[in-house]
Amino acid sequence: MAERLLASTNQMRLSTAVFLTVVVLIVLVLITTSGFLLSQGLSARNKPSNFEYAIANRALAISIPSNAKTAQNPLQQTSDILTGAKKEFVDHCAVCHAEDGSGKTETARGMSPEVPDLHADHIQKLTDGELFYIIKNGVRFTGMPAWDFPDDRIWSLVALIRELPKSYPTK
Ligand code: HEC
Repeated sequence: MAERLLASTNQMRLSTAVFLTVVVLIVLVLITTSGFLLSQGLSARNKPSNFEYAIANRALAISIPSNAKTAQNPLQQTSDILTGAKKEFVDHCAVCHAEDGSGKTETARGMSPEVPDLHADHIQKLTDGELFYIIKNGVRFTGMPAWDFPDDRIWSLVALIRELPKSYPTK
């Protein structure tokens, strides 16, 4: 009888401790979140931290289905295709990405998350299929729009992005 009473008292102590820990954790999360928001956390003037970028890039990689990642560019990279893609890029993408893909534009300067330099290793290392998927579907919570172009126009843009480091070598 006494043992059972002791066991149930111990159990009650444990549930109280678990309850209090959960309450403390919730309060801490609320304080941190409001601290973050009150320190202009959502202003586009603040650039995301490396930690936020690391999480966002990982989430983006996970969000692309594996059959989309392995898709190959069906177009031959002829100069006609690249000339057409260049026009498309200047008309629709250069406002943010700049004609040379560097992302150094007046619009990009005020954007957060930033417009990446398309020459960067982490972009050029994406597969053709990943580039296609990103251009077609855009990236939520960023300024990167989805595009309703026919697939061959998107593939021609993928080919153009692959050419950027050759057409506009960085110093
Ligand atoms: C309104 C501005 C804007 C326009 C217009 C725009 N982009 Fe972007 N783009 C962005 C931003 C912002 C990102 C960064 C997204 C992120 O943080 O993941 C981005 C990212 C990308 C990426 C890299 C994705 C990654 O891993 O970050 C590619 C490739 C790209 N854009 C291609 C294009 C192409 C091609 C066009 C034109 C058809 C285009 N973009 C038009 C803003 C823009």
